Amino acid sequence: MMETMESREKIEEILDHGPRHVGIILDGNGRWAQQRGLVRTEGHKAGAGKVIEACRWADELGIEVLSLYAFSTENWKRSKEEVAALMSLLIEVVRIHFKELMDEGAKITVMGDITRLPLPTRKAVEYAIEKSKNNQGLVINIGLNYGGRDEIIRAFRRAGQAGISPHDLTAEDLDAFLDTRDFPPLDLIIRTGGEIRLSNFMIWQAAYAEFAFLDCYWPDFSKEDLVQACFSFSQRNRRFGGLTS
Ligand code: IPE
Ligand code: IPE
Ligand code: MG
Repeated sequence: MMETMESREKIEEILDHGPRHVGIILDGNGRWAQQRGLVRTEGHKAGAGKVIEACRWADELGIEVLSLYAFSTENWKRSKEEVAALMSLLIEVVRIHFKELMDEGAKITVMGDITRLPLPTRKAVEYAIEKSKNNQGLVINIGLNYGGRDEIIRAFRRAGQAGISPHDLTAEDLDAFLDTRDFPPLDLIIRTGGEIRLSNFMIWQAAYAEFAFLDCYWPDFSKEDLVQACFSFSQRNRRFGGLTS
């Protein structure tokens, strides 16, 4: 049935039963570039362009929050040059694409500890967050210096600062101190690039998420890939440990 369905029917099914919150581990930029004899940074540039396209597709599919893994707490291990290029690219993306995202009503948020980012990058990101904070459209939640473990540790600390004793702390309390506290539960995680692992992405929120692992490199990700992942999600039986009739 899935194969014979028209894409319009699939999209209707996604609008009715698709994911509200999708996380994407956008992996494979470096290999995409190497495959073409280009430097890795060129892959990141192509990947950034794809992010903008993917946001538009997500909006069309009724996704409310798109959480994008852009730079992990472990990515500082890369060469100084690559880290610097990624940090500059973020500024470029804001400079070139922020206006069109604003026009489309997108709201930019960040997860991760951005106090460690170079100041100009941090400023560009904070500008986008501040300017778009009242927008009602797609939430583009960017993971920057983000790690799931680090997020959980920071949430524990915040809970402690709010006067919640570790003895009384519940999972719901912790949820309320995570970087994702304002968002609906994470429904679907997509990872491009062929690796089947989370690499520290939203490990708490992933508890009952569904997964789509794709072999394509991130710059080659297509609207059809997103439609297929969301459609497949819409057909799944999510039991959350219970039983369905
Ligand atoms: C993902 O692409 C983007 C970032 C981690 C910033 P990679 O840079 O990890 O690309 P590969 O996995 O080396 O191909
Ligand atoms: C995960 O990709 C991080 C981001 C996409 C930002 P990596 O390329 O860093 O993950 P590993 O090293 O393959 O696990
Ligand atoms: Mg990678």
